[in-house]
Amino acid sequence: MSKKIGILTGGGDCPGLNAVIRGVVKSAIIRHGWEVIGIEDGFDGLLDLGKCRPLTLDSVRGILPRGGTILGTTNRGNPFSCPIEQDGKIVSVDLSDRVVENVRTLGLDALITVGGEGSLKIALELMKKGVPMVGVPKTIDNDLLGTDVTFGYNTALETATDALDKLHTTAESHHRVMILEVMGRYAGWIALESGIAGGADVILIPEIPFDHARICAAIKKRSDRGSRFSIIVTAEGAFPAGGDRIVARAADERNAIERLGGIGQYVAKQIELCLDMDVRVTVLGHLQRGGSPTTFDRALGSRFGTKAVAMVAAGEFGRMASLHGRNISSVTIEDAVRDLNLVDPDGEIVQAAEDLGIMLGR
Ligand code: F6P
Repeated sequence: MSKKIGILTGGGDCPGLNAVIRGVVKSAIIRHGWEVIGIEDGFDGLLDLGKCRPLTLDSVRGILPRGGTILGTTNRGNPFSCPIEQDGKIVSVDLSDRVVENVRTLGLDALITVGGEGSLKIALELMKKGVPMVGVPKTIDNDLLGTDVTFGYNTALETATDALDKLHTTAESHHRVMILEVMGRYAGWIALESGIAGGADVILIPEIPFDHARICAAIKKRSDRGSRFSIIVTAEGAFPAGGDRIVARAADERNAIERLGGIGQYVAKQIELCLDMDVRVTVLGHLQRGGSPTTFDRALGSRFGTKAVAMVAAGEFGRMASLHGRNISSVTIEDAVRDLNLVDPDGEIVQAAEDLGIMLGR
């Protein structure tokens, strides 16, 4: 039976989104002969029918190697809590009924939401209001449960590792401490795995509050042994024991979550206070979210896209495509958003890092 399905990309963008969109469009059209409607700017697009357009094979031609998302996205768009101006004040209103109505007006048999924890939680709430949902796990932070890995993470890791390789040569030439601040709000996966791959000396992650005296001692020990430079990689969400995450901009009516940033500078200051060494900080920022996806993310995104369509065909709603080992399967969205996929401070990867002589701030 012919179907009409919608697809949107929500939350922060990441490399591989276009591979998912292409996978959905190609398999929906080639295998099933369905219609696909692309919704612009995440759930915001479902508040305005002018932002919903048909996607054809032509629309997805050539997008596989492209970063970003051809549909646009936003990490502010929550239809259950939309900031609007009323009497000169910003207030939040629930516009989810309009979204449900527009899904019906568009005649969508299913909606594929490509997003991280925040977008998938919204998808779940809309599912409860009658929208048949299928999820696809996206985030460079790799902090979603229910899948071995999210697409976008691998590309971000490559970018961070490449930055560490580059910082190494200049750190060594100038006998400096180089600090690389990477993304990772609650989960330190990018810092941990790029740190291992890039030969970092110190890795700081949100899951292990750090002690600056120990960081200084580790750097001093290295320099006493003749290594006059050190490389530190810190997740933006890392924080000192007994302290708090460093917030660059607080949350407000328009931004539901605070903007992190500044931990690199904070650690630099602590090192300068205890050691007579030159310290420099690089904040990698959104470079990690941009650029062409790696082979791994293109293949994974494409497989997630075709799986999402297969899930619609099988009527498997309320579920998210996922990777287990080498196989694509699915889990309930509810299980995927129950908690965050955090680094286990006593797990194998942390153990491996410590066995390599990397200092984890504790
Ligand atoms: O996608 C998650 C993330 O990469 C976090 O690590 C980071 O805090 C956030 O996005 C930054 O998002 P933006 O600056 O686009 O709001």
